[in-house]
Amino acid sequence: KMNAFVSQLMAKMTVDEKIGQLNLVTGGEATTGTAVSTGVEKKLASGQIGGIFSLTTPGRVRKAQEIAVKNSRLHIPLIFGQDVIHGYKTSFPIPLALACSWDLDLIQRTARMAAVEASADGINWTFSPMVDISRDARWGRIAESSGEDTYLGSQIAKVMVKGYQGDDLKKANTIMACVKHFALYGAAESGRDYNTTDMSLDRMYNEYFPPYKAAVDAGAGSVMASFNDINGVPATANKWLLNDVLRKQWGFNGFVVSDYTGVSEMIDHGLGDLQKVSELALKAGTEMDMVSEGYLTTLKKSMQQGKVTIAEINNACRLILEAKYKLGLFEDPYRYCSEERAQKEILTPENLKFSREVATQSFVLLKNQGNVLPLKKSGTVAVIGPLADSRANMPGTWAVNADLANTPSLLEGIKGVAGKDVKIIHSFGANLTSDATLQKNATMFGREIPRDNRPENDVIEEAVNTAKKADVVLAALGESSEMSGESSSRTDIEIPAVQKRLLAALLKTGKPVVLVLFTGRPLAIKWESENVPAILNVWFGGSQAAYAIADVLFGNVNPSGKLSVTFPQNVGQVPLYYSHKNTGRPLTPNGWFSKFRSGYLDVSNDPLYPFGFGLSYTTFSYSDVKLSAASLKPGQAITAKVTVTNNGKVEGKEVVQLYTRDLVGSSTRPVKELKGFRKISLKPGESKEVSFSITEDDLKFYNQQLKYVAEPGDFKVFIGPNSRDVKENKFTLLSK
Ligand code: IFM
Repeated sequence: KMNAFVSQLMAKMTVDEKIGQLNLVTGGEATTGTAVSTGVEKKLASGQIGGIFSLTTPGRVRKAQEIAVKNSRLHIPLIFGQDVIHGYKTSFPIPLALACSWDLDLIQRTARMAAVEASADGINWTFSPMVDISRDARWGRIAESSGEDTYLGSQIAKVMVKGYQGDDLKKANTIMACVKHFALYGAAESGRDYNTTDMSLDRMYNEYFPPYKAAVDAGAGSVMASFNDINGVPATANKWLLNDVLRKQWGFNGFVVSDYTGVSEMIDHGLGDLQKVSELALKAGTEMDMVSEGYLTTLKKSMQQGKVTIAEINNACRLILEAKYKLGLFEDPYRYCSEERAQKEILTPENLKFSREVATQSFVLLKNQGNVLPLKKSGTVAVIGPLADSRANMPGTWAVNADLANTPSLLEGIKGVAGKDVKIIHSFGANLTSDATLQKNATMFGREIPRDNRPENDVIEEAVNTAKKADVVLAALGESSEMSGESSSRTDIEIPAVQKRLLAALLKTGKPVVLVLFTGRPLAIKWESENVPAILNVWFGGSQAAYAIADVLFGNVNPSGKLSVTFPQNVGQVPLYYSHKNTGRPLTPNGWFSKFRSGYLDVSNDPLYPFGFGLSYTTFSYSDVKLSAASLKPGQAITAKVTVTNNGKVEGKEVVQLYTRDLVGSSTRPVKELKGFRKISLKPGESKEVSFSITEDDLKFYNQQLKYVAEPGDFKVFIGPNSRDVKENKFTLLSK
């Protein structure tokens, strides 16, 4: 249905003004490409800009909005975007970590809070959620994703959109979501950023598309086209993707924005000059051009030459104006410019408190031999490592607005939480990496980890001497926050060698060592898993991560995070994910090598830590899986039940996970697929029954004809604490 207000406005617009609406420029606060927008003020006044991103604070946003509204001929307001990815000034754990909470309500509340803070600071449009299924640990942007799983990723995509957009986009504290990166960006070849994607339709529809679709179904107002090409056509000019799939099949009625210079980059993709690639992008369904200014400078000429039509320009312009209308910008262009709100609603004590709570839910306890953790609240604790005393390291990648003044370092957090009976000592221990250039290249938004330029052995020796004086050693090691994220792909996914040498030296002291592992990707930590008694994976936990880590280390909070992504044994196994296909020559379960079976000579097919895995300070046991019936009739439901018991001495949370396997299909089917989960809390000795209802819909998949069907036959049901250690049962789906 046409929006009458927008139609009337468009009737007054010249072609140039319409094209101006399709132009998105950067305000320059976070530039991630070689091109940067110029002459912005002049263009604003002449109606050549539809929106600005990376310009914040009510004052600055108001100033830009005033130029557009007061000086341009038709007074059309601008839309203001920003990468609000995991929080705003109050930052939350990186998305990969947030997903480890498996707590949808909590995740939705992080998006809600981010929207409140961002909208109080002038922003009404976020480039989030990022919902790319990510299975390649080499790819730096895995940190920004919800991990490897289609089901979990889809649930999260949905609640993120709801959190940002709330129930009414016209409210001043809601912002428009932008689902990205459409599509398949997470499957970039070799894990190299911006690289080619080549994928079967079977895999697209069943594994990679659902989270985007879930976000669209949840009402996301916009979508960002990804940088990569897909089966030969860059997403930005991919008509099949943007028109047939997104609009026709999924019914999306918002607008599509390119990624940063995504339009002009198609020159390098080899599709033609700026005029040609702009024509291709518009015709394919990319309505807004981020930074390239290909639309602004070439579309009119293309129209005059008959290469694009006025109908195509109108359509794009209409969708962008409608988004502004949905945000209420025509009623009040300054709706998001309140100094008072900015002062009152950003970085409040409640927000910081919530950020701390959220972070505690995202950490994953990978190992705890001999119950090294939780730590005693007495004695001497040595905090050692290049990541121990760096505030810059805490917020994590793409936390553009995170406020370091409110972000204590790990050392500061431990000091704040440990209590008066704990003596804290500290030593730097080792550089992040011995390669200073790598370290510099991994820096983004100026957040740097300090370096110690003395000889490596001297720095390590100093740390060993500190460790010797302690009762327990906390080794804060791993990746710095910008060693993952955009343009931070790695072919070596181990902890850098110099840090490993430090770790080995610390272990040699004989003191109990806890590896406090910072990372934005699954690292290959086989050696560490074999040699270090306790490993707490803390990812990058946001503003209050330091306190949250201390809360968990000292047992104020019992860890309950479960991996949103598989940890491989080594980089050669990548991509490694639990829901793989069986092949015609699978290894026997728990087998390693078998001649002429699908495997490696030098490593088993097993992960180091499976998807869904995470320990607690207590232990849980699972009963057998009981099914309410042996068969499921279409239109009805079957119930799968287990009883979970807390066998330990402390209260704990457990994520009970349900998987199924379709044993016979018209196409090959994954060996396991997550279909449900519940996060429960159990007191010591307490048992709870957890039940899942399974319907025909839960068993559907896209067949070779891309029909969404459930095929009658036998299914396995698995329930357990992770994707590996499950109990199973079986049922039959009957025909209609
Ligand atoms: O939103 C981002 C995107 O994820 C990567 N390129 C830049 C965009 C805008 O900052």
